[in-house]
Amino acid sequence: MPENLGPRRRKLLPGAWGNMLAFHRDPLSMLSRFGATEASLCPIAIARWTLYLVTGQDELATIFTHHVRVLEKGPGMDGDNPLIGRGLLLSETPWWETSRREVKGALAPRQVKLQRATMEDTIDKVLDGWPAGDLDLFPKLVWLTAAVVVSSLFEVSLESETFAAMIDASRKLMEFFYRRTRSFIRPAYWAPWPLNRQFHEAAHILNDTADQLYAQKDIAASEFLQSLQHLSVGDRRAQIITFLIAGHETTANALAWTLDQLARNPEAQRMARQDATWLDASIDEALRLYPPIWLMSRKTLVPMHFGSQELPAGSFILMSPWVSHRLKQNFADPEIFSPQRWIDQPAPKPYTYFPFGAGQRSCIGESFARQEIRLTVQRVLSRWNLVPLSTIPTKPDPRMSLRPLGGIPVRLLTHSRD
Ligand code: HEM
Repeated sequence: MPENLGPRRRKLLPGAWGNMLAFHRDPLSMLSRFGATEASLCPIAIARWTLYLVTGQDELATIFTHHVRVLEKGPGMDGDNPLIGRGLLLSETPWWETSRREVKGALAPRQVKLQRATMEDTIDKVLDGWPAGDLDLFPKLVWLTAAVVVSSLFEVSLESETFAAMIDASRKLMEFFYRRTRSFIRPAYWAPWPLNRQFHEAAHILNDTADQLYAQKDIAASEFLQSLQHLSVGDRRAQIITFLIAGHETTANALAWTLDQLARNPEAQRMARQDATWLDASIDEALRLYPPIWLMSRKTLVPMHFGSQELPAGSFILMSPWVSHRLKQNFADPEIFSPQRWIDQPAPKPYTYFPFGAGQRSCIGESFARQEIRLTVQRVLSRWNLVPLSTIPTKPDPRMSLRPLGGIPVRLLTHSRD
């Protein structure tokens, strides 16, 4: 037990099996409860394991900056995954280090700027197909963000049938990961287990999609596809599928929450439509309240010291942007959507705000995602006024990424300019 987690607080925490049930029922509330204790490294007993929820700035700095040498990704995010284990998201050093170096240029801010015109064109074409009136924005945003990755990162096109199958397979794969990371039993991938069947069906479709994308590389100017030329077929597929999936699911959620919050805050919506600073502040604020990656995990490979505490090798560590972004000591009135805080208050302290992670394994697609979100929100607001169809706040659904439960039902009103 950490020294700063006093005995009185310890008594308030439920037992290991209670924690497991609470984690399965409502992980956001459960982690927030532990995060609100004053411990910067809070042990949580779950079944027969102890997980450590880290919220302290110093501890987070240590974890994010030491990652590749002494930590690997946590349970369920295993590099043994036969589909994307060798992709950038799940692989470990030394393979990860080489891969990151090779694809870095394709996602660098200067390269992302060059992709802007293609992004704008794709976004406009997709928005042309949205009808005014009542609709659920979420599936439309998933479609839009997948179209942007294909056109702007891979610089190719896919038949609409293949594209729809790819989106469906990505959703199934994410569902598979979600259930696998939560499960305490993880059969080998070849085992005749119903969940594995779902995995292999999705894998088959995604491998085909990756091959179709790569086959077009000679007609595409894609720096990303060119960077994969020397890889084996399996490694190339792993990288393409990683970027297809990591590149659209998270961004769709970020867009969904930003538009949801702007629909519910008409004044913020008006300001974001008129002023680029407000637009950026609204996006930062939505990423604070609803970080698409709400939980990251690591496993220690060697004993690690945090002040006077030692975590043995094999310990599991959790970092949760959801928890850290909502701590009172990090943000005043943390539950309130207030873009203004990004305009008239100092920038957040290091490691109190990390929607894109931090350190060596931070999101390589941050510039790409930020440009895409900005361009999309700007264009949506320039076409329509957004009005929510329900006054009940949208509930988060913490899957592999933080989805809006029940989607984002809104009315799109073609507006007369303010
Ligand atoms: C709003 C959108 C996005 C959010 C919130 C987000 C968030 C994150 C976070 C938190 C991580 C670190 C995970 C960890 O430390 O365990 C990560 C890693 C990663 N992201 Fe993103 N991401 C977004 C968009 C994108 C896009 C557009 C791409 C690609 C085009 C992308 C590709 C990746 C990859 C490949 C990694 C693994 C990096 C590595 O381990 O070296 N992401 N992302």
